[in-house]
Amino acid sequence: MNKNERPFIKSMFDTIAPWYDFLNRFLSLRQDVSWRRKAVKSLGLDEKNPKILDMACGTCDIGLEILRQNNSAHITAADFSWEMLKFSKKKISIKNKSKNFSLISSNALFSPFKNEIFDGVTIAFGIRNIVNRQKALENFYFSLKKGGKIAVLELTTPENRFLKSLYLLYFLKILPFIGGLFSKNYHAYSYLPESVINFPSSRDFLKIMKNAGFKNVKYKNFTFGICTLFTGEK
Ligand SMILES: C[S@@+](CC[C@H](N)C(=O)[O-])C[C@H]1O[C@@H](n2cnc3c(N)ncnc32)[C@H](O)[C@@H]1O
Repeated sequence: MNKNERPFIKSMFDTIAPWYDFLNRFLSLRQDVSWRRKAVKSLGLDEKNPKILDMACGTCDIGLEILRQNNSAHITAADFSWEMLKFSKKKISIKNKSKNFSLISSNALFSPFKNEIFDGVTIAFGIRNIVNRQKALENFYFSLKKGGKIAVLELTTPENRFLKSLYLLYFLKILPFIGGLFSKNYHAYSYLPESVINFPSSRDFLKIMKNAGFKNVKYKNFTFGICTLFTGEK
C-alpha cells in the first residue's frame, strides 16, 4: 500500500460490494443512474468500437451505460477491490455483456496501461477516495489517445448555503444510519460524507486536471450541486 492511500478503502469497498447497487439507487433516489448517463454522453462515443477505460469501476454501472449508448464499445473496467470485481463478473455475465469487458484488478495510482490506447476514460465516484489525485489523473492522461476525452463524476457539496445545510443534515445524520443498517458497515457510510466534504472545490479540481495535462477542462453541476461532472481532453 502506497503512503498516498488510505489503507482501509480497499477493505471497506470489499465489505459493502453486495449492497452497493441497492444502496446507490436507494440513497440517491435513482439520481445516480441519470448522472452516469450524462457522464457517458459527455464522451461523445459516436465512432465504432471505441476503447474505454473505466477506472474504479465498482459494479460496472458505467461500463453497462457505455454499452447502452454504444454497443460496439470495449470497456476495460479496473478496480482494486476484488469483491467489486467478483460482483461485476457475475453482473455482466447475467446481462450477457462479458465479451465487451476486460475486468482488471488495478490500482489507479499504479496503472498498468500503455501509452495512448484508450479513446475515453471515466472514473465515477472514485477519485475522491484517492489521496494523490493528480498522479491518478496523470496515469489516465498517459493512457488516453490524443483527442480522447475524460469524464470524472463525483459527489460534491451544494454551494447554496440553505441547500448545503439541508444536504449536510441528510448526509451526516440520515445517510450513515441507513447505509450502515443495510451494509452493517457504519464506518463506510460515515466515511462517505467525510470524503465528499473534504473534496476540493470544483474550480480547484479543474486546476488539478489541468496540472495533469488535460485541456478544455470544464465542470457541470447536477441536482443542486450534489454531483458534479468534470470533463477534459488530451
Ligand atoms: C464509490 S465506488 C464507485 C464505483 C462505480 N464507479 C460507480 O459508478 O458506482 C468507488 C470504487 O473505487 C474503487 N477504488 C478506490 N480507490 C481506488 C484506487 N486507488 N484504485 C482503483 N480503484 C479504487 C473502490 O474499490 C470502489 O469500487
